[in-house]
Amino acid sequence: MAERARRGKVTVVGAGFYGSTTALRLAEYDVFDTVVLTDIVEGKPEGLALDINQSRPIEGFETRVVGVGGGSYAGTEGSDVVVITAGLPRRPGMSRMDLIETNAGIVRQVAENVAKTSPNAVLIVVSNPLDEMTALAQLATGFPKHKVMGQAGMLDTARFTTNVAEELDVPVSSVRTLTLGSHGDTMVPVPSRCTVDGRPLTDVLAADRIEHLVDRTRNGGAEVVALLKTGSAYFAPSAAAARMARAVIEDSGAVMPVCAWVDGEYGISGVYLGVEAEIGRQGVKKVVERDLSDSELAGLHEAAEAVRAKQADVADL
Ligand SMILES: NC(=O)c1ccc[n+]([C@@H]2O[C@H](COP(=O)([O-])OP(=O)(O)OC[C@H]3O[C@@H](n4cnc5c(N)ncnc54)[C@H](O)[C@@H]3O)[C@@H](O)[C@H]2O)c1
Repeated sequence: MAERARRGKVTVVGAGFYGSTTALRLAEYDVFDTVVLTDIVEGKPEGLALDINQSRPIEGFETRVVGVGGGSYAGTEGSDVVVITAGLPRRPGMSRMDLIETNAGIVRQVAENVAKTSPNAVLIVVSNPLDEMTALAQLATGFPKHKVMGQAGMLDTARFTTNVAEELDVPVSSVRTLTLGSHGDTMVPVPSRCTVDGRPLTDVLAADRIEHLVDRTRNGGAEVVALLKTGSAYFAPSAAAARMARAVIEDSGAVMPVCAWVDGEYGISGVYLGVEAEIGRQGVKKVVERDLSDSELAGLHEAAEAVRAKQADVADL
């Protein structure tokens, strides 16, 4: 059998639900040499790494997972990609913004360590509140803005697609959706770019049903949190972050909705915002601008101003 080409090292910081499932997915892709999983807790990442490695003969992948506990960064040096999942998740009734002070302290400390140990890495931030933590990670690392991005749009889009597919009882593969803006109240669904078997979503669903599905998408994270009672979603979120990391190491140029630095696109500048972007070895290769309806564009501008105000505050956290 031809040996698969594997290259590079990815570090996942935070070995909680999000981090451990991300590490597993990345290992199972079998495209990296090494996946390093770290946490402040001693023993947890080491144990999870041992467990994942023992699944290799069954699942048939060779990527090695290395667990590093106790808040150490030994073994992460020179990572090509770093996914930051460290931080508290929501509990029922909490908004993502309720996490900002605690998670800012954690993300700042993690980002400073990453800057020292993996100065050339592409950073994928997932800790909440997402847009603010992405902006903070860029500030704390001083990395070029295109090398720091956040994961939210892939997840929100996947939730929207799933909701539409379930409403119409069609395969998820026949549905295309798009959400832009921020991860939260100012998420901007883009119905003009949504299709079912190539037909515009507005042709196959009544406006009030689309509105209902958009609402469910916007509250998709809270819906899972309310059911789980402790902790938040991680299967779909980890799929999204892992795909982004894979696009980086493969330099694939895949276009994905991500939280990226926007510099003039859509008439918006100087803010991390959910937009579609081409992802490659250097992070965001280019923000892809789409034709939006007037109301969608207005929604995007509104989201930009809302996150701009909050991102300005993170420097002091
Ligand atoms: N962006 C998204 O779409 C999205 C989706 C789901 C969850 N999240 C966020 O992801 C984060 C993680 O969620 P989770 O479910 O894995 O939570 P979790 O509580 O299961 O895991 C968090 C882990 O981070 C570790 N940690 C804390 N401080 C650390 C530090 N300084 N260095 C290294 N590790 C540290 C903890 O020990 C814990 O193991 C949360 O902030 C959550 O809100 C984001």
